[in-house]
Amino acid sequence: MGKFYITTPIYYVNAEPHVGHAYTSIAADALARYHSLKGDDVFFLTGVDEHGANIEKIAAENGVSPQQYCDQIAPAFTNLWKKLNISYNIFLRTTSDLHKRGVAKLLTSLHESGDIYKDKYEGYYCRPCESFYMDKELGEAKACPVHRLPVEWVEEENYFFALSKYENRLLDHINANPEFIQPDSRRNEILSAIESGLKDVSISRASVSWGIPLPFDPTHNIYVWIEALCNYITALDYHETGEKYRKYWPADLHLMGKEITRFHAIIWPAMLMSVDLPLPKQVFGHGWLTKDGKRISKTTGNIIDMDALIDEFGLEAFRYYMMREFSFGNDGDFRRDRFVLRYNADLANDLGNLLNRTLGLVAKHFGVVPDPSTPGEFDSEVKQAACETVNEVYSLMSRRAFDAALEAIWEFVRRVNRYVQQTQVWTLAKSEEDKRRMGTILYNSMEALRTVAVLISPFMPDTANRIRQQMGLDESFNAQGLDTVAQWGGLPSDIPIRKPEPIFPRKDTKSVQSKNADGTEDANLVSFKDFQSLDLRVAEVIAAERVPNADRLLKLRVSIGDTERQIVAGIAENYTPEDLIRKRVILVANLEPATIRGIKSQGMLLAAADGNDLAVATIEKALPAGTRVS
Ligand code: MSP
Repeated sequence: MGKFYITTPIYYVNAEPHVGHAYTSIAADALARYHSLKGDDVFFLTGVDEHGANIEKIAAENGVSPQQYCDQIAPAFTNLWKKLNISYNIFLRTTSDLHKRGVAKLLTSLHESGDIYKDKYEGYYCRPCESFYMDKELGEAKACPVHRLPVEWVEEENYFFALSKYENRLLDHINANPEFIQPDSRRNEILSAIESGLKDVSISRASVSWGIPLPFDPTHNIYVWIEALCNYITALDYHETGEKYRKYWPADLHLMGKEITRFHAIIWPAMLMSVDLPLPKQVFGHGWLTKDGKRISKTTGNIIDMDALIDEFGLEAFRYYMMREFSFGNDGDFRRDRFVLRYNADLANDLGNLLNRTLGLVAKHFGVVPDPSTPGEFDSEVKQAACETVNEVYSLMSRRAFDAALEAIWEFVRRVNRYVQQTQVWTLAKSEEDKRRMGTILYNSMEALRTVAVLISPFMPDTANRIRQQMGLDESFNAQGLDTVAQWGGLPSDIPIRKPEPIFPRKDTKSVQSKNADGTEDANLVSFKDFQSLDLRVAEVIAAERVPNADRLLKLRVSIGDTERQIVAGIAENYTPEDLIRKRVILVANLEPATIRGIKSQGMLLAAADGNDLAVATIEKALPAGTRVS
């Protein structure tokens, strides 16, 4: 247990927040919650960046003072964070006295360190970035590489920070601390930027009136980026070296989009070196959310309607999609059809069904959490899988691999669904002895769900609580930490469960489709490549028999040309063994084998089911067994 200080960028108030800002804040929130689960003392900072030429201009366009403009927009951010359930500790505004006092202190120290000097500056400036660019970064069109907008030529007398002096110290630090800049691709970019030579940076603007004055020359305002970077310590009461500063600095993680990594991984650490303060432990520059390949931004105008998605699918599904779909270090395309697919497949199907099925059987046969009195086949595998999942999640979260961590959790969910299937638990209510075994299987499934609830809680805190609530667990379980999931059996028996209710009701893809705002048709699509990964074959049934004591099961031998397979299929209520002999059915030939009622099943037949009515898919021509179906 330790402390964990995490920050998001402070966002510009030049426009309302959008899904890109939400992405960083949801990731930071998941990490903050994850560290709390681990027992760390977490401090989570976010806020808004309110000064600079850009904001001054927009305020003027709106006919209000810059301060009035900031006061209007800042609540849009706090409201969104509330809506997205972001558990920040401080929302810092750079127009606050707290920030101004801290900035004055840091800039005075910087001046005293001898690293500040006055000079003339000229260069290309992008107003939305509030940043100078070098000629080579702009290309022939002289356009900013982030916004693709024309840049302005600016000449003025400025104060400078002697950044170039810190080249070697920065290189040494980055090389000695591979975790300092992540992911590795970003680290390499920064290393090569430093290696190709750093120029001193201007830290003031004589021509910008909306800003914080330099403490040693109030005729100049501080360049907004220099002042904004200070927020990471000003928010901790740095001006008085307050308790928060002493407790939480240095930051454990500065999180941001990749386009501003260089400010955080070069300029900010050099400023800290200059005034002899400890450096943040990690700077992580994540990829961009794109729409049809283009970065989502207000300037591009390709904004995603978060409110509509949240209204339709719920906040938890939105948070899940954001963290599950994209590899955090890379860019990722926001696609509504993928959202719907994940909602139905992962949430409604895998997780929702496991909860509903398990609690449905518990409600029907026990009413309370049953006793795990009768161990049997597959129990230890499930327990082992729980333990492995927890360890995997630990390691993946430390690498900020949110998508992989969620995939590991879902692999466990699917393993437990398979356990329910393999043990055919719903058939075990007949004798007292069988029922004890049924109780054990259901206990294990509920214990698995308790584990899942803890593991998903950083991503979907409300879902975790709803699962626990339906399981009959009181609120004290909501506070359960990660240490409790490593101990299998922490779920108390005999407590009454609540009425099971679907946590993610399935969405009808047709009705979802018709709601597409842009008129395009998104379906519940899989890629052709995914489809091709299925090995479907014509299979000829050569033998069939009933499985003793299993009303629904038939054991079949099928030929797929060169080889034969044994299949256990739940079709006995609709077919007799004789019906099937010599039929040519369709087999999923590369499905991982399962053991059903102690019998190995090496594949699955395709069938259509309408309630209790079921029909096996057959091939109308006598094509040879083993023929590929596509
Ligand atoms: N004010 C500066 C940051 C100062 S931090 C000391 C700034 N603000 S911003 O409003 O432009 O926010 C940029 C950040 O918002 C990105 O770094 C990223 O965290 C988030 N994102 C904005 N658009 C995004 C995407 N399309 N995709 C992912 N993240 C995005 O820069």
